[in-house]
Amino acid sequence: MAAEKQVHRIALIPGDGIGPEVVAEAEGLLRAIAAADGGFCFDFTSFPWGCEYYLREGRMMPEDGIDQLRGFDAILLGAVGFPGVPDHVSLRDLLLRIRHDFDEYVNVRPVRLLRGAPCPLKGVEPGQIDMTFIRENSEGEYAGSGSWLYPDTPREVVIQDGVFSRHGTERIMRYAFELARREHKSLTSISKGNALNYSMVFWDQVFDEISREYPEVETHSYLVDAAAMLMVRDPGRFQVVVASNLFGDILTDLGAAISGGMGLAAGANLNPECEFPSMFEPIHGSAPDIAGKGIANPLATIWSAAQMLEHLGQGEWAARVVDAIERVLQAGDDLTPDLGGSASTSELGERVVRELLDV
Ligand code: NAD
Ligand code: IPM
Ligand code: MN
Repeated sequence: MAAEKQVHRIALIPGDGIGPEVVAEAEGLLRAIAAADGGFCFDFTSFPWGCEYYLREGRMMPEDGIDQLRGFDAILLGAVGFPGVPDHVSLRDLLLRIRHDFDEYVNVRPVRLLRGAPCPLKGVEPGQIDMTFIRENSEGEYAGSGSWLYPDTPREVVIQDGVFSRHGTERIMRYAFELARREHKSLTSISKGNALNYSMVFWDQVFDEISREYPEVETHSYLVDAAAMLMVRDPGRFQVVVASNLFGDILTDLGAAISGGMGLAAGANLNPECEFPSMFEPIHGSAPDIAGKGIANPLATIWSAAQMLEHLGQGEWAARVVDAIERVLQAGDDLTPDLGGSASTSELGERVVRELLDV
């Protein structure tokens, strides 16, 4: 008797702007992989949540939206946010809500210059940019804590707290140390302890404490401003990097800029304990300037889908997808305009499928 096929239940949240365009390509690739493999399949459910939904329904997702997502094995998200809905509403009530409620406290963002990808840095070769950012994804500057006092008066005061719990800080650093040890890499902590005299002094202290549990891991600590400069001047010195929510956000856009652009930058929001579904999404936004034109680069979402495959236990396929992306970049003839080509989103997406499956 044939073995039962493994079913991966995936929630798709294409979202806004170019989100649906790029998610469609990742979905097509995943379907093609499952068909070629034969040992597993995907059961996709698409949720039409986002800014258009908000304009119709007055909210970004239904009241029980989180419960609807709870039973899935993973979530693949495109992008959220569009002119017409304030960003602090659309992002906090959908994207940040999912990251928070599913305790996806690890944001893994590879910053790797693949062969064939454009790099604005002089004399830098693939291999010289190969970092893994571990961004704290549940608290810090994004905790949503603060107050707005006496609005619209001359005494107006706005306070945005940075929230760094011992639990939250230790667990993200342990995750980063474990990864660095497993991969025999150095670990760099991003700080600003010279100015943020509570949060970042605490961050540095916890980094120092946890580092004693991992004597075999080489460590570095840079102030975030210097780190930004060094990522441009000498990117090779960064391997695994651990950063707070906001610093990790900013530095990974810089990372994208030095490793092929926003169209190539992938990310995974992990709940490592697998108590809740993890969510996979490109790090770019909804790109209103190119939305609807069919020219968005789907490679970041496809790479995020590869991270999802890895999370689902399909690590071999994950590696093959990244290899296929690299070969397509090297071939150079089916690239979207952001990469200097004239191909459409679906032409590039389909090219990756062909490259992967050799058809
Ligand atoms: P953005 O990432 O959407 O766009 C920045 C620039 O990069 C634009 O010029 C855009 O055209 C380009 N770009 C982005 N992705 C691309 C792709 N796949 N292919 C080709 N070019 C691409 O950032 P923004 O303009 O600052 O934000 C637009 C909206 O998206 C805002 O509402 C913002 O809050 C939201 N946003 C959402 C997410 C998310 O959902 N994860 C991330 C970032 C921004
Ligand atoms: C990202 C985005 C989000 C973040 C925004 C849209 C809230 O910029 O995923 O990098 O800051 O986390
Ligand atoms: Mn960002």
